[in-house]
Amino acid sequence: MGLVIGPRLSAPGGVAITGIDLAEPLPPEPKRQILEAFRDHHVVVFPGQALTREQQYDFARNFGEIQPSSQPGSKRHDVAHVISNLDKDGNPVDRSSSPVGNYRWHTDKSWHAVPPLLTMLHAVELPPTGGDTEFANTVMGYAALPEETQRRIAGWRVVFRWGASGGTAVMTTRQDPPVDHPLVRTHPDTGRKALYLGNHVSHIRGMPEAEGAALLAELLEHATQRRFVYAHRWRRGDLVMWDNRCLLHRAVANYDMGKYRRVMHRSVVRGTVPF
Ligand SMILES: [Fe+2]
Repeated sequence: MGLVIGPRLSAPGGVAITGIDLAEPLPPEPKRQILEAFRDHHVVVFPGQALTREQQYDFARNFGEIQPSSQPGSKRHDVAHVISNLDKDGNPVDRSSSPVGNYRWHTDKSWHAVPPLLTMLHAVELPPTGGDTEFANTVMGYAALPEETQRRIAGWRVVFRWGASGGTAVMTTRQDPPVDHPLVRTHPDTGRKALYLGNHVSHIRGMPEAEGAALLAELLEHATQRRFVYAHRWRRGDLVMWDNRCLLHRAVANYDMGKYRRVMHRSVVRGTVPF
């Protein structure tokens, strides 16, 4: 019995892999198969996993360097970190209206000079229904642009800044300096071109800020049409890993967030400088 790779889950992407326990060390052959599925389908779902936060960290490390949420030496450094809708007392709260929240289309840590290759989430506690995550395939979005638009935006660089959202700055004490990335980035493994934008974009370099923000909003609307979207309906135990280099994603506020708990463990693997 080896690992079983299912059919593609939707036109924009997604595939389920069964017959593997991710809590165990990952031998070279299944790792090769997982990487191939990841390259071809962008979102890989491993149903029915039961990993500790330490085991998830070890699994994620197979794919590169972890971008941890805490400093080396801290207790939380070598483990997956917890994301949830809970406040510090463990009570569910509705934060879906936050302009820097996960409910807007984004790619993870896009305001970093070296943004992540992949993110993985392991579903630990879920609401009875809803709490989906949607993924938009930005290779498809780019390919569907009129050729004239593709020519026009070639070479444009987008300024990303934590908390920026289409020209609207969020009050913050964070001091991350802005970075810029190509709006059209080339996927290092496939050579395909993909749009790189979403929440935390500020403007287009060399263009009046309002004009750039408006163009980015238009492109985001184009890139997130339903035909480019795979919606993942979580089941407890799912571990999902996705490619930040060719996908936008967002959490969907389609459950009663003030009432039900949703707890995920998250690991992020560093990528390379977008080109
Ligand atoms: Fe995210």
